[in-house]
Amino acid sequence: MKNKISKAIFPVAGLGTRFLPATKSIPKEIMSLVDRPLIQYAIDEARAAGIKEFIFVTSRGKAALEDYFDHAPQLEAELKKKGKTELLEEVKNTSMDSGAIAYIRQHKPLGLGHAVWCARRLIGNEPFAVILPDDIIAAEKPCLQQMVEAFEENPGNMVAAMEVPKERVSSYGVLDIKEDMGSLVSVKGMVEKPPAGEEPSNLAVIGRYLLTPQILKNLNMKQTGAGGEIQLTDAIAHEITEGRPVYGYRFRGQRFDCGSKSGYLQATVSFALSRPELRDDLMGFLREVVNVEQAAE
Ligand code: G1P
Repeated sequence: MKNKISKAIFPVAGLGTRFLPATKSIPKEIMSLVDRPLIQYAIDEARAAGIKEFIFVTSRGKAALEDYFDHAPQLEAELKKKGKTELLEEVKNTSMDSGAIAYIRQHKPLGLGHAVWCARRLIGNEPFAVILPDDIIAAEKPCLQQMVEAFEENPGNMVAAMEVPKERVSSYGVLDIKEDMGSLVSVKGMVEKPPAGEEPSNLAVIGRYLLTPQILKNLNMKQTGAGGEIQLTDAIAHEITEGRPVYGYRFRGQRFDCGSKSGYLQATVSFALSRPELRDDLMGFLREVVNVEQAAE
């Protein structure tokens, strides 16, 4: 088995119901954070980690996503003519080399585990990454790159992990810790969305995974779990029962849950503040808003 990770799966088949009506005609992944679609952040993170093949698990209504990664000859020619070289570079960066990107349809919404399984033939027998584009992670060294480096030292299944407040734990996959080694945690169990009071810890899975191909075989069993869906968490937990290592990796960085409106807004503010050309204006506005709101309380 090859040990270098060069393929990543992006499950993007979700309907994005939490953002309706905006997502009625555009895929959620195309919604923009400042001026770049959510999916672009995930792609950049994957590229930084050495990913060369990008596999999208899509569904009906995601055509705009495919177009986004295509060349845009007319637009590029126009930008060139107008001498807008910086914008031209930005636009060129969004297109993918022929053969670097593949789209697989998930015909029924049977769960995250099923979405990953849909890509099995494109993965073959090598370790691979999974990136959930809803989880946006701002970090000096991109999260997936941190994980790939940790994976090189400790090959095995690895999930990004983060402590979450107790009252939020039931929204996540949760780790049962065997040994806490600091940034790396060895795991003895994993539960998807445990009922309140039954969580093994408050260390939650965040949407970055490095997985060994055996996971795809586990997913072949198509066992349903939490919410009646085929869960990726369960397929990873199965590895532990088979005696293979699973690690949690406490990444360095700030995670935004862009699957929720509040998280999406927080990410928008935070990413805008990190842009020098927007910062001063936005800071002034935020101060004003906070003052007005506080005075009204
Ligand atoms: C998915 C995973 C869950 C993980 C979460 C992170 O859940 O199933 O284990 O903790 O992503 O964002 P979802 O948010 O799709 O319900």
